[in-house]
Amino acid sequence: MTNRGRTLVGLAGLALILAIAAPASTGPKDPGYAKAFSCSACHGWDGASRADTVPVLAGMPAWYLKKAIQDYASGKRPAAEMEPYAKMVLELGVDDVANYFARQPKPAPLAADPAAVERGRVAAAPCAVCHGTTGKGDPAKGVPDLTGQPAGYLRNQMLLFKADKRSPGEPTLSAVKALMKTIPDAQYADLAAYFASQR
Ligand code: HEC
Ligand code: HEC
Repeated sequence: MTNRGRTLVGLAGLALILAIAAPASTGPKDPGYAKAFSCSACHGWDGASRADTVPVLAGMPAWYLKKAIQDYASGKRPAAEMEPYAKMVLELGVDDVANYFARQPKPAPLAADPAAVERGRVAAAPCAVCHGTTGKGDPAKGVPDLTGQPAGYLRNQMLLFKADKRSPGEPTLSAVKALMKTIPDAQYADLAAYFASQR
């Protein structure tokens, strides 16, 4: 077999492996599939992150993914891991990537301590006005869905708000940041456990 022949057979084999490994995906025909490929390294296959500190992208509404990408790319939301990828996504076409992840099924929530979830449910009363009682969010007000996000990620973002390190100085977030400062540090993990456990 020629070298070229071997390469072609190798590529066909790789495509087959990728097709088999991705049962839930809309597959390689989706215009966002190839553009979203590099995200898997951190966010898991098809955005179904199983890592406690990396957010789930599967099932994320497109409007919010696009906003987050814009914020990372512009440096408004400083994050060393995301800035280069956000800039790359804007070059590749953020609509395709956002629509791709919006179509993927959300993974089941990671296991959580039921006592922490219950304490978090009670503590979440002041969040409901914007995020809704179960954390589903409100696209009309630019409020994201918190349900099913890994607890470690949610807690980190709350701490970033508290320290004014996420979108520093952003006037529309001043109420959220003021609220975070009133929450005792010990309660952050409970709130995160509650929203992480919701679907
Ligand atoms: C090197 C690891 C890494 C790679 C690769 C990566 N991400 Fe991320 N991503 C992260 C981390 C870590 C965060 C949380 C950062 C923070 O603190 O805001 C994040 C956050 C995000 C968020 C914000 C989610 C939210 O709920 O606000 C979006 C959207 C996102 N990434 C999209 C992408 C896309 C699309 C790609 C592929 C083009 C990608 N990421 C590639 C590590 C990565
Ligand atoms: C005044 C409305 C408001 C209230 C009250 C509020 N939030 Fe939010 N929250 C927002 C908005 C708006 C964003 C999106 C910020 C952005 O686009 O960067 C957000 C984002 C978040 C995020 C980041 C989500 C992600 O995917 O990165 C977390 C975590 C969060 N809120 C938790 C809470 C918790 C817990 C409470 C209650 C203690 C709360 N919020 C109360 C408006 C609110």
